Amino acid sequence: MTDISGLRFIAIFPDIPIDGKFILRDLPGSGKRIDVLCRSLAACFDWSSSLEIRSKLEFMVSLSHSILLRFKAPTDATLRGETWWATIVRDSLRNTPPDFVTVEERGLEELLQILQKEESNIFVLEEEGRPLAAISKTPSASPYSFMLGNHRGFDEGTSKIIQKLDIQRVSLGQRSYLGSHCVAAVISHFERIKK
Ligand SMILES: C[S@@+](CC[C@H](N)C(=O)[O-])C[C@H]1O[C@@H](n2cnc3c(N)ncnc32)[C@H](O)[C@@H]1O
Repeated sequence: MTDISGLRFIAIFPDIPIDGKFILRDLPGSGKRIDVLCRSLAACFDWSSSLEIRSKLEFMVSLSHSILLRFKAPTDATLRGETWWATIVRDSLRNTPPDFVTVEERGLEELLQILQKEESNIFVLEEEGRPLAAISKTPSASPYSFMLGNHRGFDEGTSKIIQKLDIQRVSLGQRSYLGSHCVAAVISHFERIKK
């Protein structure tokens, strides 16, 4: 694995109900595609193979441009899945987050401005960007952050913020992939790179 200090995903989901009122048996409908988020969380923390990279992973999700959930890897080794992750999101939104999640009232633009002051490797995942391989060849003390959209891509507000803050676009290829597969592909890219 390349010598990175951290690997972070920042997912943007403007439509998921922030009061945590969704039905676990109907995540796509009642949760406004929260299933897409839960699959990305599973891809981040459940699919990755090496413990070394798992300890460096962080997953943030911006909801309604106003709430920020930050996830680190859960420490237990139980089998998880989409519904398990949905209960974690629901509990976090209802003020009972587990110890690996923090909840903040923070907008996306403010978050990105804070990160830009401290870190240099902030990218947005988009089909039309530069190839991922071109930006990750050297060891870096700054964590790598990758923004990704929901099932529809990025909403207008997010696109404006990306443009305003001049965040570089990085691509996994011309074909559009599921968000969860993008997460898995980025993690395995960094796992594959040797110092
Ligand atoms: C399911 S895709 C969004 C829908 C897709 N843009 C479309 O209109 O068909 C979810 C997210 O995955 C990321 N993504 C998908 N394919 C990608 C690719 N080839 N390269 C980089 N990012 C990609 C983007 O961040 C995108 O917003």
